[in-house]
Amino acid sequence: MVVQEKIERAVSILREGGLVAFPTETVYGLGADARNPDALHKIFIAKQRPVDHPLIVHIADVADLSQWAREIPDAALKLAKAFWPGPLTMIFKKQPDVLGLVTGEQDTVGLRIPQHPVAQALLKSFGGGLAAPSANRFGRISPTTALSVDEELEETVDCILEGGQCEVGVESTIVDVSGDEVTILRPGMITAQQIEEVLQQPVANARKNAPRVSGSMESHYAPQTPVELIQPSDVQQFMMDIALVDLPLAILTYDQIPLKCVGVEWISMSDDAKQYAHDLYLMLRELDKKGLRKIIIERVPATSEWDAVRDRLQRAAS
Ligand code: TXA
Ligand code: MG
Repeated sequence: MVVQEKIERAVSILREGGLVAFPTETVYGLGADARNPDALHKIFIAKQRPVDHPLIVHIADVADLSQWAREIPDAALKLAKAFWPGPLTMIFKKQPDVLGLVTGEQDTVGLRIPQHPVAQALLKSFGGGLAAPSANRFGRISPTTALSVDEELEETVDCILEGGQCEVGVESTIVDVSGDEVTILRPGMITAQQIEEVLQQPVANARKNAPRVSGSMESHYAPQTPVELIQPSDVQQFMMDIALVDLPLAILTYDQIPLKCVGVEWISMSDDAKQYAHDLYLMLRELDKKGLRKIIIERVPATSEWDAVRDRLQRAAS
């Protein structure tokens, strides 16, 4: 099938209330018609996700914003202009007819315009909003390839659209524009600094007081193999102290000279935050299949460009 035929087939599945996994530039999403309660229920079943966790609605164009958001503050328009389509989700006050299943019965709705050409084509052909969480089981690592989606969800999804490996590799930055203060709920590749530059004002970071963001729960985005974080300055010592009971293990570093040790898989990640993010989830998935005792990960820098990666590593380790 050519791409357009696949898109048309996916659209007809969505119209009938089915689930379509599709690529975005961040991670693959598990899409359903955001106006169809039966379809939305299927998402929660496929992901084994608690129903009070809200979903992001993906739309094709800023012109569709007012169908979902009842107030569109100036700050949101500025961010939309700067970053949409792209890896940004904004939380708005919702229109009254947005389903409670989408919003976790809250008065707000998360909206995103993704940039991936397959996502764009799907949204344009579908013509409505697609509720789409990451296409993984609840609490697990988001998929960044179509194959990973298949491994996660198997027969619970009606169609998986292929779109290559996701360019960004970690989930979108979530910014709450529904209150008096603009607040970052989840760090992503669009950094706090970039957002502040566009808005010309400081933004808050609400990691701690946003319990309804499922991605903000400590143990999330986690492989099944135990993950431990270590300081860069401790890597050498760690290698000298490895105990037999810890083997086999893998160690992910980004600024160390590789060391050889039987039973240790040494992985040199990029020292560029964007490339590191792009590679991270697929690497963790591969390591997770190897029956390792542990995955040791060297802590990444404390700078703004590393916020998203640092956040996901923290969660993977908790
Ligand atoms: O990059 C992404 O954002 C991917 C792609 C597929 O778009 N989607 C994604 O969805 O990561 P999900 O459901 O795995 O994570 C979305 C997060 C959840 O933690 C959810 O709680 C939060 O967004 N969220 C959605 N609507 C919200 C709302 N109204 N208020 C607060 N948080 C909200
Ligand atoms: Mg998710």
